[in-house]
Amino acid sequence: MIKFDYKNVTDEVIGAEGLNLCHAFDVWSDKIQEIITNLNMKKDKPGAWLQWMNLGYNEETVWYVKEFAAMVEGRFDNVLVLGIGGSALGAKALSEALLKPYWNFLDKEQRENLPRIFFLDNIDPDEIDALLNILDLKKTLVNVITKSGSTAETMSQFMVLKDKMHELLGDDYRKNIVATTDKQSGILRQLANEEGYKTFVVPDDVGGRFSVFSAVGLVPLALVGIDIDEIIRGIKIMDLALKNTDIKKNIAAQNALIHYLMDTEKGKYLSVMMPYSSRMKYVADWYTQLWAESLGKEFDREGNKINNGPTPIKALGATDQHSQIQLYNEGKNDKVITFIRLEEYDKTVEIPNIFEYTGVNYLGGKSINRLINAEADATKVALCDFKRPNLTITLPKINEYYLAQLFYMFEMQTAIIGELYNIDAFNQPGVEQAKNYTYALMGRLGYEESAQELTKKLNS
Ligand code: PA5
Repeated sequence: MIKFDYKNVTDEVIGAEGLNLCHAFDVWSDKIQEIITNLNMKKDKPGAWLQWMNLGYNEETVWYVKEFAAMVEGRFDNVLVLGIGGSALGAKALSEALLKPYWNFLDKEQRENLPRIFFLDNIDPDEIDALLNILDLKKTLVNVITKSGSTAETMSQFMVLKDKMHELLGDDYRKNIVATTDKQSGILRQLANEEGYKTFVVPDDVGGRFSVFSAVGLVPLALVGIDIDEIIRGIKIMDLALKNTDIKKNIAAQNALIHYLMDTEKGKYLSVMMPYSSRMKYVADWYTQLWAESLGKEFDREGNKINNGPTPIKALGATDQHSQIQLYNEGKNDKVITFIRLEEYDKTVEIPNIFEYTGVNYLGGKSINRLINAEADATKVALCDFKRPNLTITLPKINEYYLAQLFYMFEMQTAIIGELYNIDAFNQPGVEQAKNYTYALMGRLGYEESAQELTKKLNS
């Protein structure tokens, strides 16, 4: 199992800036027990948006995804994922972490005949144009993912791609498309039915940012050879562990309570996610979305205006030691920093003993592995010296099983802290508002009035 170390947020280590966790765990144990029990009881209730808690048990989807991946094996050189936010970030983070580094630069043999993978999760015209110039669309499988089926970014990309593919492949272009969307509603579903695309379903009551273990994430991951059975095994073992209602044994509940108390009692409302692994860089992006969209809310469940917001920040160790750590050590003491560490990297890189200069000769004969671990240790201790709370999550190594545990733990921790804040962690009215404004500005039917109003505001 992955490990969670909270020693460096305690008052024993960082004094008055820290928490008396023994006391806090006792005081909050009943509330935590109630939250975990309720989440588990409510998970099948329609409209509770908790179906993500069941994704580890969806054997049928896993079977269909594997069948599809086996069916198209060897047919495509590229997988292109079109999606944004929760429809892209999970698979992007997991594939980046789990595939060999620089995957898209490897030749076919090095990739064991598996396709390259690209994520178009932005609408930068230069990027889209450049990607279209490098991809052979005849050899590209496009996985268009949108739960609503109408998100402007994703559907505009799809329209560009569909047009090009139709031109190139005639009616056969359909064989190069797989759509992941709602089972009934939305324009993409309608299109898929009319045009006969292969489809997968975004299950009901699973929000975008909690959808990584549904077909949304599993399809692209399986297409590039990632072992989705191991992912499922990781979710299940973590789900079982996190059903424990005793806060002393539940790491998601501990981390939720720590962040909650740090925010509400110690003024530390910024949550920095800092993996010490380039492969896990996008894990911080995924976490950032999960934390931000789930917890940044204007109102609590009773309708009181609270403008809740424990803001997430992404960082990368060791790179950001040279960019952000100065601020974390000496700036405002308003952050909780989470390190993600690896007990073992896949490879060991030795540093040759080639220079005599005293400033660098101490490095020779050691490994890069030792150096990155020393840097993480040094940063951790320095933060404690400056009385800055920090947490460490340790994975034995990067693989499907441990990453699934990590992601599921973060999802559960987000659900629990949402309950502590007494907010709805599963809606995103702030995102919807900007989506609607975009529709208005782009002339979508039914949005005429807000278009006029917006144009006035933009020109004033
Ligand atoms: O987490 C969320 O709900 C959002 O980030 C959505 O995933 C994002 O807005 C994309 O929505 P859709 O899948 O409907 O295109």
